[in-house]
Amino acid sequence: MRTIFAHRGVSSLAPENTLSAIKLCTDYQVRWFECDIDILHDGTIVLFHDSTLDRCTNRSGSLFALNRQDLDQIDAGNWFGDEYRDERIPTLEQLIAMMNQYQLNANIEIKSGDVSAEASHRLLAGLDRALNQLDDGREYIISSFNPMLLAEFKRLRPQARVACLFETHTLNDDWHMIMEWTGAECIHPQNEGLTQQQVQLFKSKGYQVNVWTVNTKDRANQLFNWGVDGIFTDFPQHLPKYSQLNDV
Ligand code: G3P
Ligand code: MG
Repeated sequence: MRTIFAHRGVSSLAPENTLSAIKLCTDYQVRWFECDIDILHDGTIVLFHDSTLDRCTNRSGSLFALNRQDLDQIDAGNWFGDEYRDERIPTLEQLIAMMNQYQLNANIEIKSGDVSAEASHRLLAGLDRALNQLDDGREYIISSFNPMLLAEFKRLRPQARVACLFETHTLNDDWHMIMEWTGAECIHPQNEGLTQQQVQLFKSKGYQVNVWTVNTKDRANQLFNWGVDGIFTDFPQHLPKYSQLNDV
């Protein structure tokens, strides 16, 4: 099974981590997307990649300083293009509703790099509650660069499929220990520098391997021919359905 994940939604055509970017998946027959989540000061869980507002909104400063009612005042789309003016930072609740409405599946990446341990616990508990609202048949993977958060989430929700994210330079000898310690079923390595030998090693241990971020068809083909299970891409509209990728 080859899976294409629309990275942060179809983030080459719409502002990342917005409902518009995720809804675009339905235009390209992409059933899986990736998004990043974080927590606000009042416990609201939102889709957002950075710990500050500067890059992807019309505001600056800390994301965590916000409360839910602030979201109505923040433009998270105009930085990308005029047509996305007034796009909002979505809540996790809105995301779950969209997954149910359009029958989409998600890789939800936990960020929370910049918040206290207490806020991280609240994020994990809120995520667990939100996932209970998914309709039967909806699938999800929970990933993070932080194995402590993943291990805690796995204890909270043992039935969840979880994935450890690795940057190339962190893929050293202790990767397997980290995977076992968290109870992860999936490994999500960075694309740059990833070798066939590494993919074979991951597969030999029985892991699902999904690689980020792959933006050319040639590299996608190469990775699939090495045996990876999925790729994250900003350009799902340029990649034909996984079954039509060339076996070269
Ligand atoms: O989940 C894959 C990828 O999104 C990890 O990196 O920085 O794009 O969240 P980043
Ligand atoms: Mg991400």
